[in-house]
Amino acid sequence: MNQYLQGFRCSICGATYTVDDSRAQYTCPVDGGNLDAVYDYASIARNVDPRLIAGSADRSAWHYEPLLPCVPVDRLLPTPLTSFGWSPLYRAPRLEHVLDVRAVWLKDDTRLPSSSFKDRASSMVIARAQQTGAMTICAASTGNAASSLVTLCSGTDIRTVIFVPQNTPEGKLAQILIHGARVFAVEGSYDDAFDLAMQASQEFGWYNRNTGVNPYTREGKKTAAYEICEQIHLFTSAPMLFRAPDVVVVPVGDGNIISGLHKGFRDLHALGWIDRMPRFVGVTATLAPALYRAWQSGGERVETTPSRTIASGISVDLPRDGVMALRAVRDTGGLFVEAADEEMLDAMGVLARDAAVFVEPACAAAYVGLSKARRLGVIRADDEVVLQMTGSGLKDVKSALAATAGRMHRIQGKLEEIRDWRLEIGD
Ligand SMILES: Cc1ncc(COP(=O)(O)O)c(C=O)c1O
Ligand SMILES: [Zn+2]
Repeated sequence: MNQYLQGFRCSICGATYTVDDSRAQYTCPVDGGNLDAVYDYASIARNVDPRLIAGSADRSAWHYEPLLPCVPVDRLLPTPLTSFGWSPLYRAPRLEHVLDVRAVWLKDDTRLPSSSFKDRASSMVIARAQQTGAMTICAASTGNAASSLVTLCSGTDIRTVIFVPQNTPEGKLAQILIHGARVFAVEGSYDDAFDLAMQASQEFGWYNRNTGVNPYTREGKKTAAYEICEQIHLFTSAPMLFRAPDVVVVPVGDGNIISGLHKGFRDLHALGWIDRMPRFVGVTATLAPALYRAWQSGGERVETTPSRTIASGISVDLPRDGVMALRAVRDTGGLFVEAADEEMLDAMGVLARDAAVFVEPACAAAYVGLSKARRLGVIRADDEVVLQMTGSGLKDVKSALAATAGRMHRIQGKLEEIRDWRLEIGD
């Protein structure tokens, strides 16, 4: 265990718990609040040299080990996938030009082993499961959390039990099945699957990966923030070893990715390794309105509201890390914006054509958020912006085909037909 990890604090009542307190394995036993890992930042700042981290030969997220709650998973478990994270960060000059923004970076987590951001959380959860000796991990998922968990458990003795809604996109379902998990496709929504997974883990003693309520998911996800700051430094040779962007735009379902990124930047800021916090733009689906409504109401109460967006990754009725997501946006002076289904489909095309990344609708919401926040003036022309890419388009080919409907030209196969088109476009 990390010597600097002091325990977990409830996000609602502030009560603190030791790491192995069995009453607080997932949430606060008093009020059900999500738990947040607490570190001794003063000791880390005194004892850990950021140059050793940034200069480490290990180019996986495990090179941030002094800031993580668990030791690298391969120290305890023979596994084919020992590393996690360190996805590419690249600029999108075409988007910068179109939107008139100084810098737009894509943090491309579609390149992780299971093609989604969720590998960060799964890696940390597996590492924690190993510490506790758990041999079965269960998870409720809209698809990516589960496909990530089962991918990363492949080749190990860990059994995975998955609960998904029946409308899970085929690509995600195929991934989950091919890796050999037991899959229960629940009649109902993601939220129904979520509640059932909670009950099953309690009843059968399985370790539970459910997003948000397992505090290790946020701890894995925060590594993206460290990487963003380290990679921007590498690209720009900024004077500090880590450099924060001005704005980070994140698609939001349960709110755990945004709260994880926020945690990562908070860690670096508390250590003095970055000199400012970025503003967060959270993007929810118009047809999954729970969190956006809570944001508008100005409070922290998040009410269950039915969702029916095509963007499976952000289709949640009750965002399970909603309070922390609201804080990520409010505490940094950011905002929430909504993305309609049609807007996400359009954004998939823009990202594919202009930024060379093929993403699923939930991920494309980030681009919708960027363009809306720019129009509102919340993102300014001199800002440096990171778009968090969260899931590959290959996971939901049906949506990609819907986004491009009518663009295919069926021909009989004669050269003439092609010649006509050349004339039409003036080639
Ligand atoms: C592709 C994609 N983007 C964004 C999200 C939203 O993450 P969170 O539920 O932590 O807000 C998910 C969650 O499943 C996802 O799969
Ligand atoms: Zn509490």
